Amino acid sequence: METLSTLREKCLDCTRCPLAATRQKVVFGVGQEDAKILFVGEGPGANEDATGEPFVGAAGNLLDRMLDAVGLSREKNVYIANIVKCRPPQNRDPSPEEQDTCIDWLRAQTAILKPRVIVCLGRIAACRIISPDFRVTRQHGVFTERNGVWLMGTFHPAALLRNPAQKPEAFADFLALRDRLQEWNI
Ligand code: URA
Ligand code: SF4
Repeated sequence: METLSTLREKCLDCTRCPLAATRQKVVFGVGQEDAKILFVGEGPGANEDATGEPFVGAAGNLLDRMLDAVGLSREKNVYIANIVKCRPPQNRDPSPEEQDTCIDWLRAQTAILKPRVIVCLGRIAACRIISPDFRVTRQHGVFTERNGVWLMGTFHPAALLRNPAQKPEAFADFLALRDRLQEWNI
């Protein structure tokens, strides 16, 4: 039976796209196998590439604090992964081809986790998962249902560090998430 740990073992050897050549570590994902909420970022940065864990730098710290404020954490009840598992050089956007290749890993993770809610962190994840023309500034915090899974896009924590004026809106999205989870008994 495929589990997150058997899948991880395979993913750690992946060379399906050119990002394999420049990575230090594959950043598969972190969190709880029984999580009902999946957070999806864009791809590893330098800290993640070095440690193999998603969202461990300053942006990750902000994400952890926002999660904590609404009773969520990677140690307890969420799973966190990225659209691409290997760091794009110079932190450039992952190319459409790299995303298309790597997203099979995320699909496999999602098939195992069967999350009730998927929260997309930033434009890249929201455009890939919710809708290709997703605009974070206009559509953040909006929940839409697809195949029994609720999808929501919000600001990327790294974007919030660059633009702190958006923090209240982002925090409102997390509060809305908390309310939805309560409403849906998740
Ligand atoms: N940014 C992302 O999108 N993902 C990470 O894991 C870290 C930073
Ligand atoms: Fe494989 Fe994804 Fe890494 Fe490309 S980014 S080598 S598809 S794990």
